[in-house]
Amino acid sequence: MIHTAICDLLGITHPVVLGGMGSATTAPLVAAVSNAGGFGTLGTSAFDAATLANEVAAICERTVKPFGINHLLFQIQEEMFAVTLRAKPAVVAFAWARKDQNLRDYFQRAHDAGCKVMHMAGEVAEALRATEAGADVIVAQGTEAGGHVGWMASLPLVPMMVKAVAPLPVLAAGGIADGRGLAAALALGAEGVLLGTRFMATPEAPLHTNFKQAIVDSDGHDTVLTEIPDLVSQRVWPGAMSRAQRNRFIERWAGREWAIRQNASALGKELAAARAAGDIDNASLSFGQDAGLIDSIKSVHDVVRDIVAEAEQIISGRLTSLIRG
Ligand SMILES: Cc1cc2nc3c(=O)[nH]c(=O)nc-3n(C[C@H](O)[C@H](O)[C@H](O)COP(=O)(O)O)c2cc1C
Repeated sequence: MIHTAICDLLGITHPVVLGGMGSATTAPLVAAVSNAGGFGTLGTSAFDAATLANEVAAICERTVKPFGINHLLFQIQEEMFAVTLRAKPAVVAFAWARKDQNLRDYFQRAHDAGCKVMHMAGEVAEALRATEAGADVIVAQGTEAGGHVGWMASLPLVPMMVKAVAPLPVLAAGGIADGRGLAAALALGAEGVLLGTRFMATPEAPLHTNFKQAIVDSDGHDTVLTEIPDLVSQRVWPGAMSRAQRNRFIERWAGREWAIRQNASALGKELAAARAAGDIDNASLSFGQDAGLIDSIKSVHDVVRDIVAEAEQIISGRLTSLIRG
């Protein structure tokens, strides 16, 4: 069995973490990952304080295993953060802070509630800032990832971050969907992996079946970095682009961003309707390049089991057999 420092730190069996994803993580998915021996994290950006409290209660009904709650720092709301602190999850996971935000203050409040602090960064400088502010775990997110991303790819970013923040444990995120990715991340010095896209193509994920199937059907070459979904939602992210499928919706607006600004609220309604209807051409579909590695919708239990088994086999089989003398 693969056992790393992150397993001890988080009290989990397998070094496989579900990234908190607004609108793509609800209680059944979070609890399923934790029950499978990994670590589930709840995204909060689609909730208000009351729905967040309900969702946390629903996780606790489904699992006694540790889990985390994620907050996007640039838009954090006190009322929501208070719900998280009262819930005392094993981990409070942060991402996407503005440069002028005081990380130490948020991290200290999470620590005071008895939680570990995880911080996701796409650049070494941001990882160092989080380390100095007292983070317990750093997530190195490469640009291959689904959702909002920076510019650095995982292959150089992970070892750079491992070296920069040592001895803090680093989780590799972005472009990882199977045991090959876990084995590679461990080789780069990470203590485990954090996945989004792979867990979206599971029965437990709160997405329309058409979206899950779109991930399965994608060859991984059809995503693009774009600000179009954020212009529609009128949320300005601090230094992030969104990786989304280059579908009819994106092609319709690419190069006409000014027109989105003119029509944002009407477009927002159109987008929400397309999402509810499972219209994969006219909704915004955010997933990573690793969609090209995903060829079936399978249960969270099977995802975690297969990733770990494949990584073990690669490390003890192929990689070990390469050593001579
Ligand atoms: C639809 C979607 C929504 C996401 N929302 C969040 C979020 O709210 N907070 C966060 O820290 N990361 C978010 N992420 C990023 C994931 O936590 C993770 O870094 C990423 O999915 C890893 O790359 P992968 O998709 O290639 O596995 C999101 C990703 C996706 C695909």
